[in-house]
Amino acid sequence: MSSDDHTVPTESNADAAREAALAALNAEVRDCRRCPLATTRTHAVPGEGDHGAVVMFVGEGPGFEEDRQGRPFVGRSGQYLTSVIEEVGLRRADVFITNVVKCRPPNNRDPLPAELTACDGYLERQIELINPRIIVTLGRFSMRRWFPDGSITRIHGQIRNIGRGRVALALFHPAAALRNPTWQTDFARDMAKLPALIDRAKRANEAASRGDALPAGVPHPGDPDYAPAGDGGE
Ligand code: URA
Ligand code: SF4
Repeated sequence: MSSDDHTVPTESNADAAREAALAALNAEVRDCRRCPLATTRTHAVPGEGDHGAVVMFVGEGPGFEEDRQGRPFVGRSGQYLTSVIEEVGLRRADVFITNVVKCRPPNNRDPLPAELTACDGYLERQIELINPRIIVTLGRFSMRRWFPDGSITRIHGQIRNIGRGRVALALFHPAAALRNPTWQTDFARDMAKLPALIDRAKRANEAASRGDALPAGVPHPGDPDYAPAGDGGE
């Protein structure tokens, strides 16, 4: 960023650069024609939330209401997701929420492999820019990106080290949870793991910003409760 007349603190420069990069990314997504979903969408849905969030939720793709409004998780499953986020003591505004595909698949069908591939670069850049410590996957398609093997009924609730100081936590998709009382219980129980993870991640961030070694109890590969990153990890 160029600034001619005054000196700005480095942190504000970094924040401004991130804001500009995210605004450019959002504009790109809204005009994107990289896959056929561009032809059937009403609005692309880049995602929303805190740009400095410690937690990023990654869903599947926009549904009817999201496509109409251009915002993620604002329909029935979004209301349920928001309520469970609040139940564990968090605020929706403090997290970032996006999807693996940014445009609605017609009739809410599953996203196709080619669509996931075409869209993946946007998610990649969002993760790079927002730099979350915790990625919460919602549903199979998002889970598969970081937990390549196994079914969601077995994997949900697992926390996995995905490298670069990040962990992934796998949750059912809220729409699936809404259809199945057992999964609904699991969904809330899995979500309840978040506050402790966030607390540890924040301590890790603070230690890193002071240049200190990571305190005990913050996410790192040696943690006994983290599954080791396998070949599919970042
Ligand atoms: N389902 C999703 O996966 N994402 C949304 O944004 C809304 C519903
Ligand atoms: Fe572009 Fe992704 Fe939308 Fe496809 S789904 S048109 S790749 S933004």
